[in-house]
Amino acid sequence: MQAAQDAVPAAAGPEPDPADPSDAGRGASAEAIRHHYDVGNAFYRLWLDPTGSYSCALWETGEDALEQAQVRKLEHHIRESGAPGAARVLDIGCGWGGLLQRLVQQHGVGCAVGLTLSEAQAAFVTAQHLPGVEVRLENWLDHRPEAPYGAIVSIGAFEHFARHGLSRQQKVETYRRFFRHCHDWLEPGGGMSLQSIVYGWAGSKEFCSFFDEEIFPESDLPRLGEIFDSLDGLFEVVRLRNDREHYERTLSQWRQRLRARRAEAVALVGEATVVRYEKYFQLCMIGFHVGSMGLARLSLRRLEPQPRPGRA
Ligand SMILES: C[S@@+](CC[C@H](N)C(=O)[O-])C[C@H]1O[C@@H](n2cnc3c(N)ncnc32)[C@H](O)[C@@H]1O
Repeated sequence: MQAAQDAVPAAAGPEPDPADPSDAGRGASAEAIRHHYDVGNAFYRLWLDPTGSYSCALWETGEDALEQAQVRKLEHHIRESGAPGAARVLDIGCGWGGLLQRLVQQHGVGCAVGLTLSEAQAAFVTAQHLPGVEVRLENWLDHRPEAPYGAIVSIGAFEHFARHGLSRQQKVETYRRFFRHCHDWLEPGGGMSLQSIVYGWAGSKEFCSFFDEEIFPESDLPRLGEIFDSLDGLFEVVRLRNDREHYERTLSQWRQRLRARRAEAVALVGEATVVRYEKYFQLCMIGFHVGSMGLARLSLRRLEPQPRPGRA
């Protein structure tokens, strides 16, 4: 027997040094993540939908409400990963826990484990005391599960897994290390559903420094080709959607909702922060509209060792 992953060159690269927070292969640091996500839970609650989803929704009709489209997105990833009924499911980058809650309360999942680097998010999920939900303030690189998972979901976190300044090969190695870990953590035949913003026709040089300096520090977007190269031999791509127009519509909703609660938002976080978010929504809407960015949803299945043809 030959393991499928043995058939492709090992491209994992050296393991990052946990004591070296500047290691670009560790992705955005906890400090960089907190710069964005720990602005304040009350601020995000003002304009996110009731599921607390801070990622692109899945729209179907012109009449959809934001919450409806966010629930559809959560259901999409639950279904595509094969999570319903699983004993254990992992959510990498769990945000405020909307998916974790849905897994245990509506899909019979025994234990839903969420990883986040945001203290505010972890505290929010912990305070809900949801039976079967476990949230960890932990980088995926440091995650060591005590038992395998039946399914893995990751929505809107992959964008933080590589820093600017890496070569294409280094990025592929970084992403490959992520997928290798996910492969190891899954039960045989387990599924994974991944959602990430990707570069479209533009690259990091075409983006203004505003995003790196003020919105998402230490975070470079992936290209679809980099994701495909890093999956090779580890996961089968079952389905791929590019829903960039769905993100334009989601951002438009967030902008409208923030506008409607602007005075409260300013009271919570100050005028400068609100202006920063307004600019960020506006620029991203343009990016998704013109295709300089895309929104990838990938349904993946763990590849299993295959017997070599001609061998008993
Ligand atoms: C845009 S939010 C998405 C949250 C949630 N999945 C949703 O759709 O609402 C990105 C999440 O990824 C988490 N994250 C970023 N880098 C991470 C890492 N290296 N390990 C674990 N979580 C990470 C952040 O803490 C945050 O919870």
